[in-house]
Amino acid sequence: MSDLFTSVRIGTNVLTNRLGMAPMTRSRANPDGTPTPLMAEYYAQRATLGLILTEATQPSDIGQGNISTPGIYTDAHIEGWKKVTSAVHAQGGRIFIQIMHVGRMSHPDNVVGNLQAVAPSAIAPKVQLHTPTGMQDVPTPREMTDDDIRQTVADYRHAARCAIDAGADGVEVHGANGYLLQQFFAPNANLRTDAYGGSIENRTRFAIEIVKAVVEEIGADRTGFRVSPGGTLGDLNEGTEGPALYRYLIEQLDKLGLAFLDVMHWGNEELLVDIRKLWHQTLILNRPGRPREQIGADVKTGLADIESYGAMILANPDFARRVQHDALLNEPKKELFFGGDARGYTDYPALA
Ligand SMILES: Cc1cc2nc3c(=O)[nH]c(=O)nc-3n(C[C@H](O)[C@H](O)[C@H](O)COP(=O)(O)O)c2cc1C
Repeated sequence: MSDLFTSVRIGTNVLTNRLGMAPMTRSRANPDGTPTPLMAEYYAQRATLGLILTEATQPSDIGQGNISTPGIYTDAHIEGWKKVTSAVHAQGGRIFIQIMHVGRMSHPDNVVGNLQAVAPSAIAPKVQLHTPTGMQDVPTPREMTDDDIRQTVADYRHAARCAIDAGADGVEVHGANGYLLQQFFAPNANLRTDAYGGSIENRTRFAIEIVKAVVEEIGADRTGFRVSPGGTLGDLNEGTEGPALYRYLIEQLDKLGLAFLDVMHWGNEELLVDIRKLWHQTLILNRPGRPREQIGADVKTGLADIESYGAMILANPDFARRVQHDALLNEPKKELFFGGDARGYTDYPALA
């Protein structure tokens, strides 16, 4: 366990321990996407973790898919996030804002101006989303034009700049969990015949262009990337070429010298071992549903530099201390994950 409580670098930041808070959408921002003082309190409570990765945050109106998720592209967003980042820094924490464009995982009822979603191809995922009038099928998106692609790269660049202006230590570009960038990776969501579809090189082009733009804007040492190889969320199927796509993508991203790669692991251990070899910077590993007794095992073997946890940290603001002292953990209240107030958010008790 003690390996977790040694320092590790993320870009120019030296973290005090190797525990990270996995990004978690909590849908408690103001309707215009501005983070609230309650969000500042929530993140500050968790600042004893080496690293906080924030909830997914949209870079544009069209990048939003769920209700009450935060944005990072207006002056109001910057002011709201400043309160969050300064509260975390005051407690000695480090915080990277996860930037996510949802692509087709959206519903017009959840988006400013009721915009139709955009995606690599006009294919609806067979999923439902929570909307103000209850669960609804996700409608068919519009295929992105060249202009949409250029604009989205520009939006990520702008969002990254806004994140730094808001005092964040950096950003994580979200390439996982069925959202826009992974939609480009998956052949069942990307039927394009242009430079962004078909071969592995083409399907990863958009993600790499976004990362390069972000790096140009804020620097590689403030830029991370999240992947979820083999993940099927959002009705995606990466097909048999999936592992090869990730090997290629990660090799390309490695050349950029990013601060970290964040792997949400879906079970392909052989690929995970390869990723560790291909990636020369800090590697964050998140294993969904990892049992408590395994905490620290991946840092111990050297497979990961940082282990991140989601639900357990959501329910335990002082997770680092509890791990260190082998203390009991609070149970997460799933019914209070998304939306609402302080209940199930900032009211989980810390150890006495
Ligand atoms: C309430 C909740 C919200 C989540 N939202 C996001 C998100 O915004 N971005 C993301 O990349 N992953 C998101 N995830 C996935 C987590 O980052 C993590 O990968 C997952 O919960 C598995 O880790 P765990 O078993 O330790 O919770 C979310 C998970 C939960 C429980």
